[in-house]
Parts: sequence; structure tokens; C-alpha cells
Amino acid sequence: MHHVGTQKLETPRLVLRRLLPEDAPAMYRNWASNPAVTRWLRWEPHKSLAETCALLTAWSVLYQNPDYYQWAIEVKATGEVIGAISLTVSCCAEPEAAKAWEARGADLSQGIWEPGYCIGQPWWNQGYTTEALQAVTDYWFVRAEGCWLACCHAVENPASGAVMRHAGFVYDHDAVYHRFDGTPVDCHVYRLTRAEWTAHKRKELL
Ligand SMILES: CC(C)(COP(=O)(O)OP(=O)(O)OC[C@H]1O[C@@H](n2cnc3c(N)ncnc32)[C@H](O)[C@@H]1OP(=O)(O)O)[C@@H](O)C(=O)NCCC(=O)NCCS
Repeated sequence: MHHVGTQKLETPRLVLRRLLPEDAPAMYRNWASNPAVTRWLRWEPHKSLAETCALLTAWSVLYQNPDYYQWAIEVKATGEVIGAISLTVSCCAEPEAAKAWEARGADLSQGIWEPGYCIGQPWWNQGYTTEALQAVTDYWFVRAEGCWLACCHAVENPASGAVMRHAGFVYDHDAVYHRFDGTPVDCHVYRLTRAEWTAHKRKELL
């Protein structure tokens, strides 16, 4: 494992880069203030542009940490920032989640790392999140030399599961996770080991 922080990535249609305080108006307008976007996320929609500005200012400090991974999803053709994608130890770090992975013999020595993503509603179902997740998983296994990733989505949010499967993730088990306000949510939990990622890349090349 070799943490390398949030470096710029490119895909055919997207640039993935650090979110800057000046992205606050686009973030607030395009996704962070929309309850349809945050419906299955752990956080509530932002109530004001000032809230988004404060968050991005805090993140600008966190980018100094080599184990901080948080990208803006920017569409090359328009320059519009439409969403964000991260790698964190958040959701699956719940004690029950750790026990479930431990029982399956997963390597927990580096923590349980998980991608998280959201994009604005006008850009849904155009393959953007799949494209971003593939770039981030490649980065994790190649540049950060990570061993595996976990990922979970609310059962009632199947589009997120489709994105995971497109990026090579494999269904592992069901679990209950909690929003920041404590509300329980039934989830499907996926995994992507290095071997599964390699097999997925090979299949893509065929
Ligand atoms: C979930 C989300 C990230 C998907 O992003 P996206 O850019 O639309 O994803 P993609 O276009 O790459 O792929 C979406 C897939 O879901 C499928 N899908 C969409 N709605 C669906 C539904 N109701 N049931 C099943 N599949 C669905 C699409 O058909 C597509 O699969 P396909 O390519 O096989 O047709 C986006 O809707 C979002 O940001 N939602 C709000 C935040 C969120 O829920 N984040 C994930 C938390 S776990």
C-alpha cells in the first residue's frame, strides 16, 4: 500500500481533479443542494452556498494528506463540474461491517476502503459515474497499490449497484448501514479484490 493522494486523472469524457473552494457554486447548484441526489447518501442536502463553501475550504486542507482521495468529476466537453467521487474508510468502517469482512477473511490491516460517488440529476444514466469509478479503481490498484475495495448501496438505489458491477465489483453480502442521523438503511455490499479487478480489465480488453 502506497498512498499517493488525489492526483489528476483523465478518462475519454472526464477530468477527475481536486475540488477547489471556487467549485462551490457548481457543487451547490449541480448536486449538493438536491434532495434527490442525497436521498441514499449519509448526508443531508446543503441548505446554503455558504455550507458548500465551508466544506470545500475544509477539504482544501485535507488534500495535504496522502491518504485523502476526493475528486471533482468535470465534463471535458463543457468544463462543468457535475459531481464528486472519493475513496474513504467511512461507511464500511461501522463495527458490524468490519466484523462481516473479518468473518470472510478479508485483509483489514489497511482499513476498509470504499469508493463513494454522486453526480447531479441532469447527468444521470449517461455512463459518467461508471467511467469515473473505473478510473478511480485503476488508480487504487495501480498507483496506490491497494489490495481490495468494498462498496455498498441502498437496496432501493439499484443504479448504484449497476455502476459497481460495470466497474467489476462483485456482490458479497447484505448489511444494514446508518445515515449520520442514525437512520438504518438496508444495503447490498460489494467487493473488488485485486484478482477480480485484473480479471475485469482482461475481459474489457477482449
Ligand atoms: C447512482 C448514481 C451515482 C449513478 O450515476 P450515473 O452516472 O447515472 O451511472 P451510470 O450512467 O454510469 O450507470 C447507471 C446504471 O444504472 C442503471 N439504472 C438507472 N436507474 C436504475 C434503476 N432504477 N434500476 C436499476 N438500474 C438502474 C442504468 O441503466 C445504468 O446501467 P446500464 O449502463 O447497464 O444501463 C447517480 O444516480 C447518483 O449520483 N445518484 C445520487 C447519489 C447516489 O445514490 N450515490 C451512490 C450512493 S451508494
